[in-house]
Amino acid sequence: MTDDLLIFTEESDAELSVLEEAQHRAPWKILIVDDEQEVHAVTKMALNDVVYLGRSLKFLTARNKAEALDLLAQHPDIAVGLIDVVMEEEHTGLEIVRYIREQRADPFMRIILRTGQPGQAPERQVVQEYDINDYKEKTELTTQKLFSTVYTALGNYSALIGLEENRHGLEKIIDASADLLEKKSLRQFIQGVLEQITALLRLDKESVFVQKLGVSTYLNHEQQLILAATGDDCQYIGKDPRKVLPAEVNAEIQQVLNNQETKLSTHRFIGYFRSSIESEAVIYISSSEELSLPDRNLLKIFLRNVSIGIEHLHLREEIELTQNEIVYMLGDAVESRSRETANHVRRVAENAKELALLLGLDPLTAQIIHSAAPLHDVGKIGIPDSILDKPAALTDGEWSLMQTHAQRGADLLSQSNRPILKAAAIIAVQHHENWDGSGYPNSLVGEDIHIYGRIVAIADVYDALCSERCYKDAWGIEKVLDYMNLQKGKKFDPQLIDLLIDNHERFVEIRRRFPDL
Ligand code: C2E
Ligand code: SIN
Ligand code: SIN
Ligand code: FE
Ligand code: FE
Repeated sequence: MTDDLLIFTEESDAELSVLEEAQHRAPWKILIVDDEQEVHAVTKMALNDVVYLGRSLKFLTARNKAEALDLLAQHPDIAVGLIDVVMEEEHTGLEIVRYIREQRADPFMRIILRTGQPGQAPERQVVQEYDINDYKEKTELTTQKLFSTVYTALGNYSALIGLEENRHGLEKIIDASADLLEKKSLRQFIQGVLEQITALLRLDKESVFVQKLGVSTYLNHEQQLILAATGDDCQYIGKDPRKVLPAEVNAEIQQVLNNQETKLSTHRFIGYFRSSIESEAVIYISSSEELSLPDRNLLKIFLRNVSIGIEHLHLREEIELTQNEIVYMLGDAVESRSRETANHVRRVAENAKELALLLGLDPLTAQIIHSAAPLHDVGKIGIPDSILDKPAALTDGEWSLMQTHAQRGADLLSQSNRPILKAAAIIAVQHHENWDGSGYPNSLVGEDIHIYGRIVAIADVYDALCSERCYKDAWGIEKVLDYMNLQKGKKFDPQLIDLLIDNHERFVEIRRRFPDL
């Protein structure tokens, strides 16, 4: 799943070179600064029909420093400057050059100095310092020489600009790819791709207006869904592209799906991606202006990263789902031995996550707690059935043994380095610690008990009280809340109890969603 997903068809490659020839592009700007009218006329005549890379020349002319600075201010993208040295003052030309390189900070413009007075050559140091690309005596500048000098300068300028655009583009791609790796879901990821592509294609070019961006993902072509879009197309999100998209757009998308191949043409990019789990994605980009060759090259590089990113995303989702499933299965196995219903572990997980979010912990931490909480009683694996299932109060000896489930669970879980299992180890050993220090196994007090432990203690007891156990009946909600409130600051972290009680309908809702069957 790397390059083979981004096959660009023969047809579209052929289209590229034809396009390059045909492309109507802005002219190269040539600045001529000279105080002699005659020099302007001769220069323009000599260069009038120059075409370089399919672009002609446009002349900007100035007679003195003030006019030159004025033109420079209006045109940030001058390719070549032909600048007279001696004008109103002996060094006027050099002052203009200094302005270009220093104040304007333009390292790209190619500069050719011209002088009518032989022997007025600037010092070598000036030539080096200001990156002056050529130095000519006016008498030297015959039509042919002028032509080759400017032609060479244009070549250097466009190479410099090309490098700069590539550098800029690659920087954007690196940023964009890093941004995408942060995305947590396919929908977010695709939305990120669209935003990044829009940004990439608008690089320095206000004129490239990306008209339409839409994305769809598909399952065996049966189910089709627009996952993300930008601008006006946002109205399509969540809908079936076959029902809502304009016929010609939809036809192209279906064609790409059937061929399983990315399609690239002058105004459109339709990328095809296949993920490891039976689903495909199409990224559709249409631009009002022709996509330039550099833009399309950037798109290609960027979309290679996108296909790798999609693969990572699916792998990560699969690992997370698998991990969560294993955690639930383990938790279930434990709880079913002690005849608690399977949904007890789910409710403890949900209660704990809810408390974490109410407390203002970040969503990732809340998710870790959610994933780890089902393992709080995994240490009960080591407790005999005769004790677990005893339909009455425990003897002192039985109770001592029962209490070992906390440390047993931690011993088991702390063998792993996985973040969720490490969190689960903390929860296992601390979920019976009490705020006032009266809990077990380590009699920890207050905030010495990890927040994971304080949260799961409440999540667990709340649900145990609401439930029937082999040794007790279910309590009504009023009685449960009274008990929890009574234990505020004794068994439980007072701040968390306030959150539980103030928001108790959320916890009732969790029981409704995951009932005992
Ligand atoms: P569990 O059944 O999951 O209960 C978790 C916690 O909920 C208990 O931790 C306790 O704090 C609270 N809880 C549950 N039922 C009641 C109740 O009827 N009254 C009150 N005040 N609190 C209740 P605890 O006490 O550390 O117990 C840990 C585990 O030990 C329980 O997990 C259960 O598996 C077992 N256990 C506790 N008491 C008995 C019992 O009398 N008979 C049996 N067979 N097992 C018990
Ligand atoms: C599951 O069944 O594994 C997910 C239940 C949940 O969202 O807590
Ligand atoms: C997830 O981590 O995305 C799934 C939620 C869970 O069941 O823990
Ligand atoms: Fe426990
Ligand atoms: Fe429990």
